[in-house]
Amino acid sequence: MTLFDRPILAIESSCDETSAAVVHHRSVLSNIVASQIDMHRKWGGVVPEAAARAHVEAILPVISEALTTANLNQSQIGAIAVTNRPGLVGALSVGATAAKAMAYSLGIPLIGIHHLEGHILSTQSLADPPGFPHVCLVVSGGHTELVEVTEPGIYTIIGQTRDDAAGEAFDKGSRLLGLGYPGGLAIQNAAKTGNPERYALPKGLSGDTVDFSFSGLKTAVLRLTEKEGSNINVSDAAASLQEVIVAVLTERAMRAMERLGNSTLTLVGGVAANLALRERMEQACLRNNYRFASPPIDLCTDNAAMIGIAASFRLAKGECSGWDLDVFPNADL
Ligand code: KG4
Ligand code: ZN
Repeated sequence: MTLFDRPILAIESSCDETSAAVVHHRSVLSNIVASQIDMHRKWGGVVPEAAARAHVEAILPVISEALTTANLNQSQIGAIAVTNRPGLVGALSVGATAAKAMAYSLGIPLIGIHHLEGHILSTQSLADPPGFPHVCLVVSGGHTELVEVTEPGIYTIIGQTRDDAAGEAFDKGSRLLGLGYPGGLAIQNAAKTGNPERYALPKGLSGDTVDFSFSGLKTAVLRLTEKEGSNINVSDAAASLQEVIVAVLTERAMRAMERLGNSTLTLVGGVAANLALRERMEQACLRNNYRFASPPIDLCTDNAAMIGIAASFRLAKGECSGWDLDVFPNADL
């Protein structure tokens, strides 16, 4: 068995989750995620310096748990993959340093992976993975992008947000409604009993576009809370906010599919964990005879398994990084 046939250990620490996973030929043998959410909750959002320190504490136990769960020891690993861009520099550095040290000491290849490529290829872990080319809607805390995925490694951004990401719209809306951080799940839970038609909120851009704009939504929720004061029905407001985000994402994704003449849509990233969004997108695809694919919830939010899957494609092509691998806060796909 060559090094490239062996399982890959993957590490992800770009924001507020410390994660390590073992992936073998796209199948996920383990995927451990230590979340810092409880710590950041008291500050209402991610504090970069605190995130980096928490990664330092969690990284080695998380790596060891990933290996134990996969029933492997270090010597059975063939390569180490790590998210090296984009993200919080201090947070990324912790993962990259651990990855380099391990790969160097074990004498195995190291590969730096773009976080969004991990999200995009997360659907390749499915038993019946979507083929190529396909269209991918990446929706996370920092990104809202419609991407044409020609093949692994060849991506064309065809639509994107002009301001806030969809996840930010959930997070900021949640904070304004007093539902706390992180906002996506809090809004989803509050929306369960709410009336999505109660409050009219703006959809942002109009016309024949595949771009997004969510900043007006945040302002509209602020105005709503000022106008309604203590009379506001938080469940109805959460349902109305979720409805507008879901409607806009679905409408733009369907338009992109039509423009590109493609018949497979994938939905990935933290916001893809939203059940209302998954259901609406699936129904829209069904109506249009498109194949719809989205990873299980634990592979939507940040995780190292998706980094390992992306790495398996790159390593198979003979790519790897040097020992001078650096981290980057911003990076194009
Ligand atoms: O991909 P991700 O874990 O981290 C980034 O790369 O940004 O995405 C995090 C985002 C947050 O904005 C969070 O509120 C959102 O995903 N999110 C959700 C849900 N779960 C997480 N948004 C809507 N509904 C959810 N159930
Ligand atoms: Zn992410």
